[in-house]
Amino acid sequence: MRSHYCGEVNERLVGKTITLCGWVHRARNLGGMIFLDLRDREGIVQVVVHPEQKEIFKLAQTIRNEYVLCVTGKVNARPGDMINTKMKTGTIEVEAAEIKILNTAEPPPFVLDNYVPVSEDVRLKYRYIDLRRPEVFYRIQFRSKLVRAMHNFLDDHGFLEIETPHLTRATPEGARDYLVPSRVQPGHFYALPQSPQLFKQLLMMGGVDRYYQLAKCFRDEDLRADRQPEFTQLDIEMSFIKEEDVMQLMETMMQRLFKDLLEVTLPAFPRMTYAEAMQKYGSDKPDLRISLELVDVADLLKTVEFKVFSSVANDPAGRIAALRVPKGATFSRKNIDDYETLVKKFGAKGLAWMKVNDLNDVQSPIKKFLSDEIVHAILRRVGAQKEDIIFFVADNYRVTSESLGALRVHVGEKDASAWKPLWVTDFPMFEKVDGHWHSLHHPFTAPQDMNNLAHGLSHAYDMVLNGSELGGGSIRIDNIETQQAVFNLLNISEKEAREKFGFLLEALKYGCPPHGGIAFGLDRIAMMMAGASSIRDVIAFPKTATASCLLTNAPSTVSDEQLKELHVQVNTKE
Ligand code: AMO
Ligand code: AMP
Repeated sequence: MRSHYCGEVNERLVGKTITLCGWVHRARNLGGMIFLDLRDREGIVQVVVHPEQKEIFKLAQTIRNEYVLCVTGKVNARPGDMINTKMKTGTIEVEAAEIKILNTAEPPPFVLDNYVPVSEDVRLKYRYIDLRRPEVFYRIQFRSKLVRAMHNFLDDHGFLEIETPHLTRATPEGARDYLVPSRVQPGHFYALPQSPQLFKQLLMMGGVDRYYQLAKCFRDEDLRADRQPEFTQLDIEMSFIKEEDVMQLMETMMQRLFKDLLEVTLPAFPRMTYAEAMQKYGSDKPDLRISLELVDVADLLKTVEFKVFSSVANDPAGRIAALRVPKGATFSRKNIDDYETLVKKFGAKGLAWMKVNDLNDVQSPIKKFLSDEIVHAILRRVGAQKEDIIFFVADNYRVTSESLGALRVHVGEKDASAWKPLWVTDFPMFEKVDGHWHSLHHPFTAPQDMNNLAHGLSHAYDMVLNGSELGGGSIRIDNIETQQAVFNLLNISEKEAREKFGFLLEALKYGCPPHGGIAFGLDRIAMMMAGASSIRDVIAFPKTATASCLLTNAPSTVSDEQLKELHVQVNTKE
């Protein structure tokens, strides 16, 4: 139908007759003349209807916002005083010779204008209208370009794109499963994959060598701004490689994506062990745009009168760390109370602080418990300057690290336009929560040391950017003995292992290549690169925090007949 996109019309077309299709962004009847701003995905152009054109003029008088039109007309240069420098097409306009109303439209539920705030619920209910807004469309278009660039890179490097099933068995990644009841096998369920982890390992055992997939993953977990119940991974697996090979190639890929799409040159990614990240930044995904660091001070506090501190200082599992914030002595009581509330969310029992009015004059609720020598030793240890504030948390290693790590991100100054990627490596294999061992990555991750399985490190790595985990992966276990040892440690009995992962254990018997890989959160990468503040902004039809789709009203109830067919009984009383 069209000869040009609205946003493409420019001075070079002056004098030519063109045909445009799109939505009426704004219709204005200025008595003498009618102006129609016509919009399509590439932009907006002004169409003018002159009263001399009696028939079209009459028709144009009936046109309202969001009508769908096909307009043919001549491109004219705008007279000097009519030029709109704010509009990409502001130097020209199209003089209508023919207008077809392809469809009328009711007034939209919200104005399609960047400046009018609209609640996200309304935008999601009418997502198809929201998508007509340029900044919303830009982000979806950006995602498409990103995906194209990923395909190109991986294709250039010999990766095969292979699909794995959605109706499958549980794939453990630590979240709850979405289940699908089977009609033909009463009482049996498929699980939607939390990731294609086991299938990609089986592909390596099948000799595929280099696999990738833009895989939909399903996880029933508590949602946050950067999580969705169904999301997309760029999932990758390679054979006959070591950790370093995967990291090198993925780093190159990310550098290429940033260069091609944003014209940003990412530096070589520094490597940091998990232990160092927790020690210095209190996080396994440190935001390196912030220069503040946690400093250990427990050794200075072993004998102090403040029992909270001395008991932790003498506990091998405890940690007392300090966070120095330059110029923080101006923080108000209210600021500090808010920070205390923040650290308490991470399990801390309190937040002690010390304002450095001067190196010989500190103000602190715990000063009465500390000798001058100890105060000075602390000031020296953290490199205190006049007008700083120093925060302290005393707790077990995890709580102290995570709570002060969160405070660091909250109060730390950062250059919002900087990109600070890194690799975090040498994760522990397991952590003990409430007396039970859990895999830090997943149970298929290879240990560094079989002789120290429970307390040792793994061959896992995470790619981190500006405090977000973009992706995580590992070298996998490639022999049955190690796999069983890990299952044993995780308290998965042989029977349970056979039931759940029998196919994997069996496959490990028949010649498994050394292999490893990684999966990136595509939505998260797109969100960061497109400068969006929520993962929902880069997903065409996202779900809300309660995992519902406001557009289709999913999830919904189903008929008794359907339930009966599926052999499912619903009990909503619980
Ligand atoms: P992992 O569970 O770390 O690893 O997931 C990989 C990446 O997926 C993204 N991600 C999410 N994005 C949006 N919403 C969610 N709910 C969500 N959960 C995870 C994150 C994360 O870094 N099979 C392994 C990978 C491997 O070992 O190769 C896995 O799934 O960006
Ligand atoms: P209290 O004597 O309980 O009033 O505590 C004195 C100060 O120490 C207060 O500022 C508390 O917030 C802080 N505090 C208490 N417990 C801890 C802890 N485990 N780590 C850090 N600070 C704490």
